[in-house]
Amino acid sequence: MKILVLEDYEQMSLAAADLITAQVKEKPDSVLGLATGGTPVGTYKVLVERYQRGELDFSKITTFNLDEYYPIKPDDTHSYRYFMNDNLFNHINVPESRIHIPNGEAEDAELECANYEKMLDEAGGIDLQILGIGLNGHIAFNEPDETLVPCTHKTPLTESTLEANARFFTDGATMPDSALTMGMASIFRAKKILLLANGAGKREILTKLVRGGITTSVPASLLLLHPDVTIICDKDAAPKD
Ligand code: PGA
Repeated sequence: MKILVLEDYEQMSLAAADLITAQVKEKPDSVLGLATGGTPVGTYKVLVERYQRGELDFSKITTFNLDEYYPIKPDDTHSYRYFMNDNLFNHINVPESRIHIPNGEAEDAELECANYEKMLDEAGGIDLQILGIGLNGHIAFNEPDETLVPCTHKTPLTESTLEANARFFTDGATMPDSALTMGMASIFRAKKILLLANGAGKREILTKLVRGGITTSVPASLLLLHPDVTIICDKDAAPKD
């Protein structure tokens, strides 16, 4: 596992965008695994700027997002589908037909998850997966537990996650209490993984990830088993020695 500690959020976002840019230039038909949350917003902004300057072409890429609230309508402003449209997809030339996000209004959640896993298979797995990390150590919505689920599945959200994400629901909307999420094995099939973290609030969990051993109580710690993981963080989030 490589850890890159950079000065601030802006530098972290630039470095992450550089890795994604390199991936897309090297393999224009890359399959990118994308994340939502506050952390990757700056990275997406840099990618949009590069596209608008004509430096990047997303016309052949395929994307898979990690997760979506459940139940939620895709056009709900709190949905991850809306977040991705707003922060990235509406501003670049990725074809709609190659964008994948679990459908938060699917009637049959199990079937939706099975189909999502099948589409991941058919796409040949992910080339580069972007991850954030929850304050409780989750990646996607794989919440700390005695056991973790391998494939895409429906999961209840923990108190910690409901509290952490309440900041996106200050307009009085009710946060869904469940989500559809890629599982640990779905994520681990990615050839390369890039985990981003910024701010002092993430320091403790990054320290646990790096130094606390491998445990399902910190799902991100399983990344220690993956052969190609890079963590890019700002100095406030850098793991303690
Ligand atoms: P954040 O969320 O980027 O908003 O901190 C990360 C996560 O929960 O995975």
